[in-house]
Amino acid sequence: PVLVVDFGAQYAQLIARRVREARIYSEVIPHTATVEEIRDKDPVALILSGGPASVYADGAPALDPAVLELGLPVFGICYGFQSMAGALGGEVAHTGNREYGRTEVGVSGGVLHAGLPATHPVWMSHGDAVTSAPEGFTVTASSAGAPVAAFECVDRRMAGVQYHPEVLHSPHGQQVLTRFLTEIAGLQPTWTASNIAEQLVEAVRDQIGEGRAICGLSGGVDSAVAAALVQRAIGDRLTCVFVDHGLLRAGEREQVENDFVAATGARLITLDDSEIYLGHLAGVSDPETKRKIIGREFIRSFERAVTQALELQESGDGVDASVDFLVQGTLYPDVVESGGGAGTANIKSHHNVGGLPDDIEFSLVEPLRLLFKDEVRAVGRELGLPEAIVGRHPFPGPGLAIRIVGAVDKDRLETLRAADAIAREEMTAAGLDASVWQCPVVLLADVRSVGVQGDGRTYGHPIVLRPVSSEDAMTADWTRVPYETLALISNRITNEVPDVNRVVLDVTSKPPGTIEWE
Ligand code: XMP
Repeated sequence: PVLVVDFGAQYAQLIARRVREARIYSEVIPHTATVEEIRDKDPVALILSGGPASVYADGAPALDPAVLELGLPVFGICYGFQSMAGALGGEVAHTGNREYGRTEVGVSGGVLHAGLPATHPVWMSHGDAVTSAPEGFTVTASSAGAPVAAFECVDRRMAGVQYHPEVLHSPHGQQVLTRFLTEIAGLQPTWTASNIAEQLVEAVRDQIGEGRAICGLSGGVDSAVAAALVQRAIGDRLTCVFVDHGLLRAGEREQVENDFVAATGARLITLDDSEIYLGHLAGVSDPETKRKIIGREFIRSFERAVTQALELQESGDGVDASVDFLVQGTLYPDVVESGGGAGTANIKSHHNVGGLPDDIEFSLVEPLRLLFKDEVRAVGRELGLPEAIVGRHPFPGPGLAIRIVGAVDKDRLETLRAADAIAREEMTAAGLDASVWQCPVVLLADVRSVGVQGDGRTYGHPIVLRPVSSEDAMTADWTRVPYETLALISNRITNEVPDVNRVVLDVTSKPPGTIEWE
């Protein structure tokens, strides 16, 4: 891999993602990794990330100079650029010229910036600056606050930039990063969806051997792709289970039961437990209580599903029933955030299935644990999953229950489901699916307002539209959906959904609002 050495910036994962967008495999490694640990990973290049510290600060994460003597191509970014400059004999100083945000750099020749405009905007965030490049390095960019804003030494396959090429605010950043990888480091872009899928299927086959596995489907993209990979690897020794808790959106169960099964040929058990969940949720309007009830019942449902799966296995192949592996759709960001552990140890820390039966022991299979979301989607397409599944927006495990403000019951669910289906249909028709991260549709079941419809007064409920744009759901902004689309959705919902006489738009970013209302 290309190893991104994480100096504590929030940017390391983003850098890894950008490297993979250049179709080269990349992983994040903490800056505390030793030279031996780095060498053991067999890297093809190193990228030193930015970091919050000043290279002068006490306890600033230090770069072991031996890392630069491994003979590997190295690219430094921001703090990583300064550490690299310092370690190679250049100079770094407190210039007092702090640069933060959009900054113009002027470029002069070199390989990194070839083909770019002589001046162009980049995203800066630094107080210290490199004032003189190491011997043998050519300075190829500068800005008002950074006399050395980029340098390179093609012979040693090393280069670096003061700015952040990984963020979208550096419009040419991806190109610069790609030029480092392909022109200076000489790497080939081979990390493609079909290669990824092939490697993952192979790895699952190795891990599971002759064992058997079970996979809970949520209707979402991660569990679907994970299941499809495992299905491809071990065929009918995988059983998929799907719990219908009655809190799903229109068409979601059918999508799993028909489309997913048709695309993969997987064996599926569906549990229709909606009555159970509705029973426990009756009269409950506190959001956390709703979540707890659903979480608890989900474990029970999953237990029943596992029992059924075992019986099915037994009658299917006549072998003593046992299921050895549990498939989870854990993604790379979760792995990095939880410290990047080895992965089979702690089942409870992964909450994709909402917890697991205590008395059943599984080893985990997490075929997606090295992938980012966009790669998961690409692999899903490669495996022939329908667009409606691989392109699906995130949807919370507790489902529509946390999109009804107030107590949950059948009628309210029906109302919300109808409104949600209309909003989704019109957003898709307007071509907005790719630019919207997700659009919760919320029913304010405890609120009524006066309206007029036909020739009478109405006293109905409002529906809230919550379209958001985001990169990772940690922060989000409300999406500026075209007025025409909003008008269409509003007209259709108020005309077609009984009991709803008002549609409102949520124009709150996150923070301070969360994406979901509960
Ligand atoms: P919030 O509301 O915290 O949501 O801004 C962030 C993202 O997480 C999703 N979400 C959940 N997903 N189980 C899930 O699997 C949950 O309980 C849950 N709550 C929120 C939400 O849809 C958004 O994408």
